Amino acid sequence: MNNRCVVIGVSGGVAVYKALEVISRLRKKDIEVRVIMTESAQKFVTPLSFQSLSQNMVTTDMFDEPKAWEIQHISLAKKADLMLVLPATANIIGKVANGIADDMLSTTIMATKAPVVFAPAMNTNMYENPIVQNNIEKLKSFGYEFIEPASGRLACGDEGKGKLADVEDIYEFVLKILYKTSDLEGKKVLITAGPTISPIDPVRFITNRSTGKMGYAIAEEARNRGAEVTLISGPTNIKPPYGVKIIKISTNEEMKNEVLKYFDETDIVIKSAAVADYKTLTYSEQKIKKGEGNLNLEFTRDSDILSILGEKKTSQILVGFAAESNNLEENATRKLIKKNLDLIVGNDITAKETGFGSDDNKVIFISKTGEKTVLDKMSKLEVAKKLFDEIIKIKG
Ligand code: CTP
Repeated sequence: MNNRCVVIGVSGGVAVYKALEVISRLRKKDIEVRVIMTESAQKFVTPLSFQSLSQNMVTTDMFDEPKAWEIQHISLAKKADLMLVLPATANIIGKVANGIADDMLSTTIMATKAPVVFAPAMNTNMYENPIVQNNIEKLKSFGYEFIEPASGRLACGDEGKGKLADVEDIYEFVLKILYKTSDLEGKKVLITAGPTISPIDPVRFITNRSTGKMGYAIAEEARNRGAEVTLISGPTNIKPPYGVKIIKISTNEEMKNEVLKYFDETDIVIKSAAVADYKTLTYSEQKIKKGEGNLNLEFTRDSDILSILGEKKTSQILVGFAAESNNLEENATRKLIKKNLDLIVGNDITAKETGFGSDDNKVIFISKTGEKTVLDKMSKLEVAKKLFDEIIKIKG
């Protein structure tokens, strides 16, 4: 675990000294550390402390040496495997969010292609200020990472959110990104998520309770592992993960058409969508008016997209989901075989706390070879991680 380089951007705040602790932890792991200090950071701690701990010269703002400045921000930007802004003040967050590059730190952040992680620390009112929150949201949407500040008593005496996150948490967060697996690099992954709908008339439709959370978490994890991800999604309220190609559809037929468009060139297909098995037999062009008696609607079978893929499959790894309210293992195994899948993820939709719309899930993986893995309840992102670990095993 060596030869990695973390560039730490220290901006001015009382939490500056905690950056020293993080550096010392990283150095113990043999990770190279380079430090850039803003002018105000140097008013809290001298560059010498950072120099001693990082065992490298510290870069400060060098407007008086424009040539060195010009070269150094590019070389540090290239050298970084990760940039950590610690502590991140409202000022540096605001600058980056608005494209301002006027000192060594903001310029290096702008010039780097490495992941950039902000660990904010500031007064509660500042942190909660909608301008700061807006800047954070904007940066997140571009793929910048944030380590949530903690709540507690702040240096100014106020109580609330804004305290720098725990040193241990920051350290773990950095390691996680620095050594994240890229075992799906170069792979094309196709994921379906959310419900489909079947229109009845211009104002009405039937659908199901799927929120898409599981599929979106799978897309996020596939992206984290370096895959080229296409997410075909029914109507949801979730923001698609940054860097994922999103295709929005409504009906079973639209989903089928899009999936088939991509299938041949895809390596891994994960069908987590809750696809409607039936559609209305006739669609009424006019709004259906109420009458005195009952209203009867007739439904007809719609395509089983996963079965179509199972028949068409060549070298793709095909993963399906089985949402069951009874006989989970038995039903999931039956679907695995019938639909010619490599793996099926079974979940019990009647389970409390892990049903539709929940942030957690409790699932079982059943593979083509009959291997069963029962997982504890965990977040949907954790499930997604385990799922790809399992898929990698199949790929060999
Ligand atoms: N699926 C699909 N097309 C459908 C129905 C389901 O592609 N028309 C896919 C889902 O995305 C999921 C898997 O098939 O990956 C299992 O879906 P599920 O609804 O649990 O199974 P069904 O085959 O529809 O069986 P049943 O309704 O009898 O439980």
